Amino acid sequence: MKQDSQITEIISTTFRELPNVLLESYLDFQEAIHQVSKTGEVLRSRPFRRHQLLEPPEPNRITKHYFAVRNEIVGHAIARYEDVKIDMNPDAISMRVEIHPNYRRQGIGTQLFTKLETYGRQLGRTKIKTWIAPINGPAGSAFATKYGFRKVMEEKESRLYHDKINWHYVNQIKQKYAETDHKYRYERIDRNEWADRILTNRQFAEEMADFYNEVGNLMPMEELETNNFVDTAEDLRRNAEFIKQSDSWKSQSYYAFNGDTIIGLSDSYYPNDPPVRDVSTGLTGVRKAYQRQGIASVLKVKILEYYLENFPEFEYIHTENAASNEGMLAINIGLGFVPHVSFESWQRT
Ligand SMILES: CC(C)(COP(=O)(O)OP(=O)(O)OC[C@H]1O[C@@H](n2cnc3c(N)ncnc32)[C@H](O)[C@@H]1OP(=O)(O)O)[C@@H](O)C(=O)NCCC(=O)NCCS
Repeated sequence: MKQDSQITEIISTTFRELPNVLLESYLDFQEAIHQVSKTGEVLRSRPFRRHQLLEPPEPNRITKHYFAVRNEIVGHAIARYEDVKIDMNPDAISMRVEIHPNYRRQGIGTQLFTKLETYGRQLGRTKIKTWIAPINGPAGSAFATKYGFRKVMEEKESRLYHDKINWHYVNQIKQKYAETDHKYRYERIDRNEWADRILTNRQFAEEMADFYNEVGNLMPMEELETNNFVDTAEDLRRNAEFIKQSDSWKSQSYYAFNGDTIIGLSDSYYPNDPPVRDVSTGLTGVRKAYQRQGIASVLKVKILEYYLENFPEFEYIHTENAASNEGMLAINIGLGFVPHVSFESWQRT
């Protein structure tokens, strides 16, 4: 073997600027990781993944990439932090290192992590968060422990398989909350319609920001040290502009309104990579003053019915909840969701 094939070069660039051979190598790298991953995620098609990597950068977030190259891509590291109007967590940054299965235990992870750490320190962002899938073995937590992280939150991914839906529970919800269904207005809004509304309807953008600020901050974070976030209408407008230029993902959300007030929301999304095999659930939340009236359950059932009708080929819907989020877990278990795998958040201060 040639001597120089062992030299690891670390480069920092974006996917859009990565030379084509390395972009293709990164797609191979994703496939190699997928082969050893035990989390059971669907591997998206190569054209979809390539298209996604080349999408315009996300707004409201700064992303920094480092690639470890040894003729091919053997490692990738990413750091991200919020770039919002009011940053409540100016010391926070999230990071993740991933090494090609054939190149682990050679110090490449350490090399990449050192780059990330230096980058964070230069920005004054020293509260570092990362995540680990324990099902993939001891490497992730051993690595994080070695570099001073500790586990602060556990989230469970649960899945509702198409053929395991608890119809009895679904019908119970529909009967029990039939009144709620008439009392409030329920509306389905897809990703593009949402973006149009945010960009053209100031009142809706303000109301949406207010809803996220209340409901987004109700979610249990266990020991994860994070300050409540503040979403502004301006941040949402930047997001809406991005949505108008990006088409990798589609989404469907059900909203509950009381007049013009958004009182509840359940979000779902899926890749623009047919056929639709798996659907992800985003935020489901109800304003505090409207909780315990069945609104979240009704919203969840409406989402489920939407996919049954429009994408009957789907295999499962999945969702992630903090292990301590009892209210959401109870609804999900009722519907027939079953725990699949856990993900852990780790933090270093
Ligand atoms: C975790 C991961 C990034 C480590 O990359 P790596 O290049 O193999 O790591 P390094 O060679 O720099 O190892 C650094 C230290 O981490 C620990 N470590 C790494 N892999 C380990 C394993 N399989 N078992 C026990 N300890 C391990 C050791 O302390 C090691 O030091 P040592 O080799 O001197 O004993 C890699 O296994 C991976 O990509 N895992 C999947 C993604 C992930 O879980 N990332 C962690 C969140 S950032």
